[in-house]
Amino acid sequence: MDAREKTLRVIVQKIPKLPTLTSVAEKLLGMVDDDRSSVDSVVHMIEQDPAIVAKVLSFANAAFYGAGQPILNLNDAVMKIGFKNIRSIALGISLMTIFADNKERYAEAYRKIFCHSFAVGVIANQIADRAGHEVLHEEFIVGLLHDIGQLVINKYFNEDYVRIMDEFQKGCFLVDAEETVLGVTHADIGLWLADKWNLPAVIQDAIYYHHHPRDAVRNKKAVAVVHLANVVAERRALGPLGAGPSNPLDYAALDMLGMTEQDLAQIEAQIDPEALVSELFD
Ligand SMILES: [Fe+2]
Ligand SMILES: [Fe+2]
Repeated sequence: MDAREKTLRVIVQKIPKLPTLTSVAEKLLGMVDDDRSSVDSVVHMIEQDPAIVAKVLSFANAAFYGAGQPILNLNDAVMKIGFKNIRSIALGISLMTIFADNKERYAEAYRKIFCHSFAVGVIANQIADRAGHEVLHEEFIVGLLHDIGQLVINKYFNEDYVRIMDEFQKGCFLVDAEETVLGVTHADIGLWLADKWNLPAVIQDAIYYHHHPRDAVRNKKAVAVVHLANVVAERRALGPLGAGPSNPLDYAALDMLGMTEQDLAQIEAQIDPEALVSELFD
């Protein structure tokens, strides 16, 4: 075991109780890669959790999915934004909300990370589209979950989280601030959690490599998509801590997708940060 793994082990041992998947999350996870799962069975599953239904409907009504008649039920949402999107959103929300917390000192940071994650999911879809080929079918959920390690840090290591924010606000990259305070990053902690939860390999890879996609050995395009989506979100002040980058742009990600900096700039210019998040939080 190298020093880094030891540090990670020491950190995660301080988590009093590993958050477990809700039964809805667990069942949706079982369906996420299963193209035989029917619309009805997934809709039925989601309906068991009214909080998830509400969130899925607010996503389906949000401006980035285009205007139109208000979406009032899940079947209409499936018609509008597609079955796979509904399934991904519901799973992503059910995993993210495991870390929701009403305690005031966690809530604002949770909200920011959630907004950022959601923005990265949406932008990842746009980048995959722009790259001109089916990069992966679950861009959205991969984007949504890429920073789940940050939710762990915020919830279980709140004092460290505050110190990381202080370091970050001095102007360094987020991952460097985490290295300074914890000795590991949210990517290490996120991968640990994803492994415990048995999340699919593509999600694990996106969590671990999204700051340096050139090092990915599998799912390279998915990782590249999330990396670029993360960069775009942060450039538009939709970062997990507000303004400022987590990490530098890895140009290898553009090459991996056959994209140019101009392509990225165009996607960036189309983002309307306020529209992106205003409808998601009451
Ligand atoms: Fe990150
Ligand atoms: Fe991120």
